[in-house]
Amino acid sequence: MWSPVVKLAAFLTLIHVAQAQCSYSMLQELTKSYVSSRLAGQISTLSTAVYTENFKSSTIQNSVHAQPLRIDHNRSLHDTTQCATYTELIITDSRHPYVIGTQMRYTPEGQLTQIDSLVTDAGDWLFNATGTLYWATREDWSPIPEARRDSRAVIKAGADAYLDLFSNKSTVVPWGTPCARLEGGSYTGQGRPTDSCNLVL
Ligand SMILES: *[C@@H]1O[C@H](CO)[C@@H](O)[C@H](O)[C@H]1NC(C)=O
Ligand SMILES: *[C@@H]1O[C@H](CO)[C@@H](O)[C@H](O)[C@H]1NC(C)=O
Ligand SMILES: *[C@@H]1O[C@H](CO)[C@@H](O)[C@H](O)[C@H]1NC(C)=O
Repeated sequence: MWSPVVKLAAFLTLIHVAQAQCSYSMLQELTKSYVSSRLAGQISTLSTAVYTENFKSSTIQNSVHAQPLRIDHNRSLHDTTQCATYTELIITDSRHPYVIGTQMRYTPEGQLTQIDSLVTDAGDWLFNATGTLYWATREDWSPIPEARRDSRAVIKAGADAYLDLFSNKSTVVPWGTPCARLEGGSYTGQGRPTDSCNLVL
């Protein structure tokens, strides 16, 4: 029912740093360390944080994070205002493919307090790690020129509307045009200037 790979590529921009609570470079170091420690399944730097998996309270020791993962693709977002990060991992390893989305919350000093992961695998809605990898690596996530960036409030309202759509079909989402959605391993865009995200899935 849930895809961790939430993509609003048409209007997601880099967050405008009005009141940074955490440094961007610190958060970048923290996500880099999170990703690299997945290769051996090291959890020492994660184990003091509160952990939820697929919205349920859990322990990092019993999670997917405690095993070595062959990562095909990783991408992280860094929110300096909320001292939070989001990292997506795509693992196509045929022994057990996964797509994992993880939010991490920090104190301004960089102490990890909370980890929330959405772990999807075989049987989940539109799950196809090979397809997710194929489309995710074709997306352009390079920085948007400063003059063309939306405000933090506009970006947040758009993302909230997208998520609300899953529980309320009347939600109006401010899609851009063209717009494409990557849901699980399925991509809605066809490369046309009129591609729309306003479709029934
Ligand atoms: C994560 O992604 C970056 C950028 O694509 C890449 O340079 C790095 O090697 C990746 N890390 C791992 C552990 O796969
Ligand atoms: C998964 O995605 C790949 C790449 O797009 C595609 O070739 C394959 O047919 C898909 N598998 C299923 C079961 O849909
Ligand atoms: C669903 O969204 C519409 C449009 O924003 C809103 O008017 C309505 O109150 C929402 N319904 C519920 C049950 O939240």
